Amino acid sequence: MKDSSPGTEPIGQNLIKLIGNLCFSVFVFSVLVFTVVAITYQPPDPWLESAPALTRLFTQSENATFKNDNSILKTGEDLQLSPAGASAAASASPDSGANPITEAVIEKAEEGILGPSSKADPGSCEIAGGAVNCSDPRLLIAVEKFNLRVFKSIVFLEYQAPVSGSKPGECDVAYRFRNKKEKSWRKYRDFRRFRVEIGDNCEYKVMHSGGWHSGTNARRPSRSNATRGTKAKILTPVGDNEINDTIPSLGSDANFRKGRYLYYSPGGDYCKEMNHYLWSFLCGLGEAMYLNRTFVLDLNMCLAATYNPSNKDEEGKDFRYYFDFEHLKEVASIVEEGEFLKDWKKWDKSHKKKMPVRKVVTYKVTPMQLRKDKSSIIWRQFDAPEPENYWYRVCEGQAAKYIQRPWHAIWKSKRLMNIVSEISGRMDWDFDAVHVVRGEKAQNKELWPHLDADTSPDALLLKLKGMIAPWRNLYIATNEPFYNYFDKLRSQYKVHLLDDYRELWSNTSEWHNETMLLNKGRTVEFDGYMRVAVDTEVLYRGKTRVETFYNLTKDCKDGINTC
Ligand SMILES: *[C@@H]1O[C@H](CO)[C@@H](O)[C@H](O)[C@H]1NC(C)=O
Ligand SMILES: *[C@@H]1O[C@H](CO)[C@@H](O)[C@H](O)[C@H]1NC(C)=O
Ligand SMILES: *[C@@H]1O[C@H](CO)[C@@H](O)[C@H](O)[C@H]1NC(C)=O
Ligand SMILES: *[C@@H]1O[C@H](CO)[C@@H](O)[C@H](O)[C@H]1NC(C)=O
Ligand SMILES: *[C@@H]1O[C@H](CO)[C@@H](O)[C@H](O)[C@H]1NC(C)=O
Ligand SMILES: *[C@@H]1O[C@H](CO)[C@@H](O)[C@H](O)[C@H]1NC(C)=O
Ligand SMILES: *[C@@H]1O[C@H](CO)[C@@H](O)[C@H](O)[C@H]1NC(C)=O
Ligand SMILES: *[C@@H]1O[C@H](CO)[C@@H](O)[C@H](O)[C@H]1NC(C)=O
Repeated sequence: MKDSSPGTEPIGQNLIKLIGNLCFSVFVFSVLVFTVVAITYQPPDPWLESAPALTRLFTQSENATFKNDNSILKTGEDLQLSPAGASAAASASPDSGANPITEAVIEKAEEGILGPSSKADPGSCEIAGGAVNCSDPRLLIAVEKFNLRVFKSIVFLEYQAPVSGSKPGECDVAYRFRNKKEKSWRKYRDFRRFRVEIGDNCEYKVMHSGGWHSGTNARRPSRSNATRGTKAKILTPVGDNEINDTIPSLGSDANFRKGRYLYYSPGGDYCKEMNHYLWSFLCGLGEAMYLNRTFVLDLNMCLAATYNPSNKDEEGKDFRYYFDFEHLKEVASIVEEGEFLKDWKKWDKSHKKKMPVRKVVTYKVTPMQLRKDKSSIIWRQFDAPEPENYWYRVCEGQAAKYIQRPWHAIWKSKRLMNIVSEISGRMDWDFDAVHVVRGEKAQNKELWPHLDADTSPDALLLKLKGMIAPWRNLYIATNEPFYNYFDKLRSQYKVHLLDDYRELWSNTSEWHNETMLLNKGRTVEFDGYMRVAVDTEVLYRGKTRVETFYNLTKDCKDGINTC
């Protein structure tokens, strides 16, 4: 008995025990860490950081990483491996007309029209009177070949029948396309004017193509030849009539009663930065998917002050300004909050037996504990003081093992992407791009000692000369507010800045018309987040892309000693 009392044991033996214990603890700890990392690491998360690190970031979010520097989160369409590559995307694709028009496809069409032998018969030129006939199928083939040769960064998806341009020898052709860097199956529209001649061997030759959207006569989809039968009816006279982000209704009472819902009350996430919003929203949506429930989505958003020209938080923004609601509807089970509350009230008023509701007042009740709950509505409330009232806390700890954030469900708004296409299209998809981060980071010499100097006009010119050939189109994505800051570069490059395209969101634009419809007829402001989203996406479409961090400066993205 005496021997076991610490005082009598030799020091050496104690030490060995201690070291042994310590080693074992370290071993256990590292296994634990490894396990946690292995479990929480989910490749589709664009953060590529562990959840605890993120939580830390969020709880002290005023600091470095979230300084508004024109970096935005990648969304679902950036993360897929190939267009329609992921099976989820393929099944969500609403039609089958998404096959690229390749050389093989054109050749096949050509054989169908001309027959295999016609090429070897130059004597009989059948092009009547030597006049260019825009309706001639052979002309379309010539245009298709031309496009394929000239616009290498574009996948052409479907053509409409060419129509006459403004004078003989001109044809206007509309088509749908996708940039090769766009990873969603979404299609964009262009219509150009082509100048066509008839060559010696009696073939159509495309001599020249007009600029982006130059083929105004082909602007409207021709109804007789609408390739997609379902959408032949044109509903609105303006804008991109392929966007359908109407709010679905649940239909009958009985339908509503049959559903199972997961309803999150607003939490501390309201008016936080967009990255925080997404991190939280996708937690909620992930839980709903895990529980096989319909998620109740509040389309009203509050945009954090950093993105607002007014420098104040602004309520009353619509989810659909920023994200693709149509895609979300297709890949996830959701119901809009207003519809949901209306139906719920109606039900409770007209039936003796109310909708069964389970209120959950703390995030400490895990999704796993709610699995067996049969209530029609699970209503999570977030009334605790910050940071206990963030939605994403539901997905912390054990829950992280079970809930996957459905990043694939979030795409950027097609309306914003139409602006991106327009800007890139006007440069004929032939441009290089540089990302110049300045703003708060450039002013903070403690965390980014060289950034300011490395992004000064002289330094930029010097560095870019080594990377981009002179007189290329150079798109500059930047948070530098002073428009003339980059004037020095104009001696070497054709400089393009987002503000050069401001008419694309001015009050005469399609975007303006379309967003107004979502905002009860009131004008929608093109805010800082939209700017950043468009700026970044154009940047991604550049042929050569120069980044601030790692290309222009040795400073680290998140401040000194973080890389
Ligand atoms: C975050 O910023 C505050 C002031 O803005 C500063 O006091 C604090 O040390 C910073 N934290 C980190 C981890 O840099
Ligand atoms: C143009 O081509 C179409 C289709 O081949 C044909 O029906 C039409 O008659 C032609 N028009 C003229 C003026 O040749
Ligand atoms: C136009 O429609 C007709 C009949 O639907 C079809 O045969 C023809 O191939 C279409 N033309 C084009 C260019 O799609
Ligand atoms: C839009 O989508 C809804 C389903 O969300 C559908 O019921 C409606 O018919 C669609 N409208 C059009 C014009 O396609
Ligand atoms: C959700 O549905 C899937 C497949 O239908 C099933 O495997 C899973 O157990 C369900 N989860 C819950 C919580 O009911
Ligand atoms: C568009 O904005 C300009 C200047 O902001 C204003 O003068 C003009 O009246 C507006 N037009 C419309 C149709 O709202
Ligand atoms: C926007 O709507 C107005 C009024 O409805 C219309 O006159 C204008 O042509 C539209 N602009 C575009 C670019 O569609
Ligand atoms: C920018 O830096 C990255 C990483 O060092 C490098 O791979 C890339 O080629 C650089 N870009 C240019 C245009 O030099």
